[in-house]
Amino acid sequence: MKVLVVGGGAREHAIAEAIKRSPQQVELYSAMSNANPGIRRLSKAVTRAKETDTEAIVDFALKHGIELAVIGPEAPLCAGLADELLSQGIACMGPRKAAAMIECSKEFCRNLMAKYRIPGSLRYATFDDAQEAADYIDAFPGEVAVKPVGLTGGKGVKVMGEQLRDREEAKAYAREVIERGIGGGKVVIEERALGEEFTLQAFVDGRSVVAMPAVQDHKRAFEGDKGHNTGGMGSYSQSDGLLPFLTKEDYDFALEVIRKTVAALKEETGEEYRGVLYGQFMKGKEIKLIEFNCRFGDPEAMNVLTLLESDFAEICAKIAEGSLSEKHVSFSKLASVCKYVVPKGYGVNPAPPARISVDEEAIRREGAVLYYAAVNEENGEIYTTTSRSVAVVGVAESIEEAEAIAERAIGHIKGEHIYHRRDIGKRELIEAKLSRLKALRGE
Ligand code: GLY
Repeated sequence: MKVLVVGGGAREHAIAEAIKRSPQQVELYSAMSNANPGIRRLSKAVTRAKETDTEAIVDFALKHGIELAVIGPEAPLCAGLADELLSQGIACMGPRKAAAMIECSKEFCRNLMAKYRIPGSLRYATFDDAQEAADYIDAFPGEVAVKPVGLTGGKGVKVMGEQLRDREEAKAYAREVIERGIGGGKVVIEERALGEEFTLQAFVDGRSVVAMPAVQDHKRAFEGDKGHNTGGMGSYSQSDGLLPFLTKEDYDFALEVIRKTVAALKEETGEEYRGVLYGQFMKGKEIKLIEFNCRFGDPEAMNVLTLLESDFAEICAKIAEGSLSEKHVSFSKLASVCKYVVPKGYGVNPAPPARISVDEEAIRREGAVLYYAAVNEENGEIYTTTSRSVAVVGVAESIEEAEAIAERAIGHIKGEHIYHRRDIGKRELIEAKLSRLKALRGE
């Protein structure tokens, strides 16, 4: 089978590795805007196309006789890449644009949840008029989140009590989004959700929904969950598929939200959702849906794909043809911890590209798995860019052991202008999260 992977991050490196583990004969091709050495090594041919350049990617796929495309990031899905590939007879693991709207438009997502009475939604309203947004914020009985409706590469959401000090700052930011056309120039004003975030991802073939282990990402740049938000500095999962603060009932509730959303998408758009559906949830007094993504999470993909035992190429093909069932999917019953090395200043003012050294052999000896992210390999050297650089994943019986493996492994990545969060997956941080949540829930 000839498979094309679109995207050049660690998520796509994990996708490529999982596909290559297939017992089937798979020939891998890739399309990415950077020169990710991990993906490049696994690929028979690479095109350095921008991930949203649908024409270039379709041409590359046709030229190489691609049978199945696995689309990593959201931007090409929102640009209609799956539709273009499907129109050329190429199967896709990744939804058509109509169904990808669940991520491409936060307004579409909230309206869908309201119309189909999907549990876990938040009080919200959308505006393209700054004065109306300001009046709504003034009258809102509590703190709000201000979210551009469209894609902003994970940088658009601001929350009162976090990035926004008060109502005045919330109103000013809503005005800025509208007047500067950020994410399409429309805002969703939403009730602020408090608690612990978790991610539940599911394989969806249009009808069947097969859930993966829950994962917790860490968005804040610095240890102790301090600093600005990033795309995610690292993540962990627990051996039973739950999380230290997440019960089976919580997991089942989140899965029901995903199932109902898949059914609603079919009803609303006439399109079957085929791909990975990612739900970001908040557990506070209740469980609320923060947002949906139309793809694997990054870094969450590295946790679940490292744990995946079954044939991922088969899973992708079954998703694309609408014939997936539970029996095709199994994960090892182990914990995982993923840690990202990033350039200093990542998320606000990243250090300029610089060479880093990655001792792959030493990382392997530590028992960890390495995934290259937004780096470029030039003349055998690895250079950082403005985004995340390299991820390592430790897998073990317990989160603590998996953390120790990841931490030892990450010591074999060296460079002057990089850093990582040492605390992700550490008992102290998890216990601090548990006590914060207990206090919030009055337990
Ligand atoms: N981990 C956050 C995301 O993938 O959007």
